[in-house]
Amino acid sequence: MNAEKKSYNSDFLIIGSGIAGLSFALKAANHFKEASVTIITKSEKSESNTKYAQGGIATVWNETVDSFEQHIEDTLVAGDGLCDEDVVKMVVEDAPARLRELMEWGAIFDKTSKGDFSLGREGGHSQDRILHHQDLTGAEIERALIAQVDKTENIQFLTHHFAIDLITEHQVKKRQTSVLEKITCYGAYVLDEKRNVVKTFAAKVTMLASGGNGQVYFTTTNPVVATGDGIAMAYRAMAEVSEVEFIQFHPTALYNPGEYPAFLISEAVRGAGAILRDYYGNRFMHKYDVREELASRDIVARAIDHELKISGMPNVYLDCTHLEYETFKNHFPNITEKCLTLGIDVRKDFIPVSPAAHYICGGVNVNKKGKTSIKNLYGAGEVTRTGLHGANRLASNSLLEGIVFAHRAFENLTQRFDKIKTPKNIPDWNDSGVVKNMEKILITHDRNEVKTIMSNYVGIVRSNERLLRAERKLHVLFEDNKRLYDHSELSVDLCELRNLITTAFLITRFSKARKENRGGFHNVDLIKKEL
Ligand code: SIN
Repeated sequence: MNAEKKSYNSDFLIIGSGIAGLSFALKAANHFKEASVTIITKSEKSESNTKYAQGGIATVWNETVDSFEQHIEDTLVAGDGLCDEDVVKMVVEDAPARLRELMEWGAIFDKTSKGDFSLGREGGHSQDRILHHQDLTGAEIERALIAQVDKTENIQFLTHHFAIDLITEHQVKKRQTSVLEKITCYGAYVLDEKRNVVKTFAAKVTMLASGGNGQVYFTTTNPVVATGDGIAMAYRAMAEVSEVEFIQFHPTALYNPGEYPAFLISEAVRGAGAILRDYYGNRFMHKYDVREELASRDIVARAIDHELKISGMPNVYLDCTHLEYETFKNHFPNITEKCLTLGIDVRKDFIPVSPAAHYICGGVNVNKKGKTSIKNLYGAGEVTRTGLHGANRLASNSLLEGIVFAHRAFENLTQRFDKIKTPKNIPDWNDSGVVKNMEKILITHDRNEVKTIMSNYVGIVRSNERLLRAERKLHVLFEDNKRLYDHSELSVDLCELRNLITTAFLITRFSKARKENRGGFHNVDLIKKEL
């Protein structure tokens, strides 16, 4: 490791550059004009789960046909009895204001020829209410927010900076912390990947907006950066974490062996009328739910999984051949183009699809103000458990959750930021005694091993025996990785592996502890209690 060390102070330290992190940064910087705001992201500016969101943002926009009550009800039904109703109400009712704000920041959403917003539909929604930008909604939001951030003077945006660990009493007072005490966050240790230096970022407020962890599975729609860093880091700092057993599998990722991450075929395609067919061309969703293709994601993903197990085939199909092509191409240019590059012409060919890990419904607990259980550590977006999603997230509620909770955290800080003291005497990162890791191949093997364990034993359908096996195997990996981590010079792949193993462990442990099936969680040895 380079001997040079650097200590920095920033009033706000934001970890992650998706919708939650960027919108929070803009609000904090614009309100607290004298404050310094630093965003760190481990890759390029826009690389985040947000960028890959195709479908859009669910919002009650047309109150003549839709209502907050219906959006609330749809969210509660999808969440299968585990949503926090107060939180659902708060998010749904705040949605239109947050969407207007996004538009003021320059995000463009599609309109009809009459000039109204073009509202899409997705599984589990009783109304058309998804605002979208073609099938590239997340990329459009990232574009708009980054353009705003780039012209905001008091924001420093650091790419290729990887947050290793949160700083708490554990480092500052050099003592073990306990879940029973009030822990405070004083910033984070951050690996500057290009200079190979661990920097100390002391911060009054730390915002965890680091996204999800789809990379614990082989087949995922999440980009390679989604390695559960925030959940693992917060857990190590002893923040409360919950409901991580609720992994949402997207029913329709493009089946294209060898392509990682899997390309998403948006649920909005089914919303536009596409039909699921088994390997032999037969419809099957009527056997599973009266809403057929528009049942919520957990039900559709499990139905496809079941069909695949019966047929022994690797994929089912999405049939769009009956849809009006020009309309389809205008709404889904990215999907149309992707299919064409693989020789699939949606006018006459079915699209091969299979489920893929897509979203984690639980995470680091935050309250309605975006506060975690650790003082001065806030959270927003997929890294958190807010109570909005319960056991299964309703489609297109994720970007919404991110922007609403970023706003709530900001609002809370307008009341208390001035009272937060600048952290002092933060020790530098101690890397004495570490050596360069000459066996990178071990990290690659272990990363694949995590994915194998999770895909084989902690997938859409689990069992007590599978979970036990996963736990045992992850334990071995954990011990091996700990030895490597404690003695090696840090690198992003090593830190990511550590976080992947921790997150996989948490998902497995929480799955073992769950005693009834709900939403996206299904263990063949359990039953579902009726509500
Ligand atoms: C999709 O477009 O199907 C994904 C949207 C979401 O995850 O809510």
